[in-house]
Amino acid sequence: MVIPQHVAIILDGNGRWAKSKGMPRNYGHVRGAKNLEVICEDAYNMGIKYLTVYLFSTENWRRSKDEVDALMRLFRQYTKTCIKTARDNNMKVRVLGDPSALDPDLQESLRRLVESSKDNTGLNFQIAINYGSRDEIIRAVRRVAGDCREGKLRPEEITESLFSGYLDTAEVPDPDLLIRTSGEQRLSNYLLWQLAYTEFYFTEVPWPAFTKEELQKAIEKFNSRDRRYGGLKGE
Ligand code: IPE
Ligand code: IPE
Ligand code: MG
Repeated sequence: MVIPQHVAIILDGNGRWAKSKGMPRNYGHVRGAKNLEVICEDAYNMGIKYLTVYLFSTENWRRSKDEVDALMRLFRQYTKTCIKTARDNNMKVRVLGDPSALDPDLQESLRRLVESSKDNTGLNFQIAINYGSRDEIIRAVRRVAGDCREGKLRPEEITESLFSGYLDTAEVPDPDLLIRTSGEQRLSNYLLWQLAYTEFYFTEVPWPAFTKEELQKAIEKFNSRDRRYGGLKGE
C-alpha cells in the first residue's frame, strides 16, 4: 500500500457531533482537539510525513463571540500541550495563516512552538489557524509586488515554483490526499493553490469520532485511485 506523503485534513463536524450527544458545541471542540493529538501520532506511525490540519478559518470569526472565545482558549491550551508533544514525538510544527489577528499571548506561544520544534525530524505538522487560502494568496502577491518594486525580482521571473515559495506552505510539498470529515463536500477556502492535483476523500464521520481505522480507509481509497497529473499514469 502506498502511503501518501502529505495528508491535509479539514477537521469538520465538532459542533454537530456534540449536538448529537446532547452536549454544547464547545464540548465537541474539546474532544476534537484531543482527537487531533491521537490522529497525529497514528498518522506518523503509518508513515505519513506531512500532516496539515485546518483549525480556524479567516471566516470562522463570524461565529458567535462565545464560540470564538472558547476556541481561542482551546488553541492556547492546545499550543502549550503541542510544545511538549512536539518535543516528545520529534514533530516539526509550522503555522499557516495570518497570526496577527490572534491575541498577542497566543501569537507568542505559536512562535515558541515553531521555534522549539524547528530542528525536529519526525512528522511535519502544519496547523492552519486564522487561515484562508485567498488571504494567503493575497499576502503572497503583496510580497511579490513589494520585491518587484524594490528591484529584487522582475515580473518575468515569477514562475509557479517561485510563487509557491511566497505562500505559507513554502517548504511543504503539495498534499497527496485531502480528507474532509462530517459530510460537507467543499473546500471552505483551504489550500486552493496547493490542492491543484490532490485526491479528495469525504467521509460522513464527524471529526471527534474519526479514528485511525477511518484514516486507513481513506488511504485504501487513495490507493485504489488512478492518479494522473494531466498526462497518463506512469508517463
Ligand atoms: C470544525 O467543527 C471545527 C472548526 C471549524 C473550528 P465545526 O465547529 O465546524 O462543527 P460543525 O460543522 O458546526 O458541526
Ligand atoms: C472549515 O470548516 C474550517 C475549519 C475546519 C477550521 P467550517 O465548518 O467553518 O466550514 P463551512 O462554514 O461549513 O464551510
Ligand atoms: Mg463545520
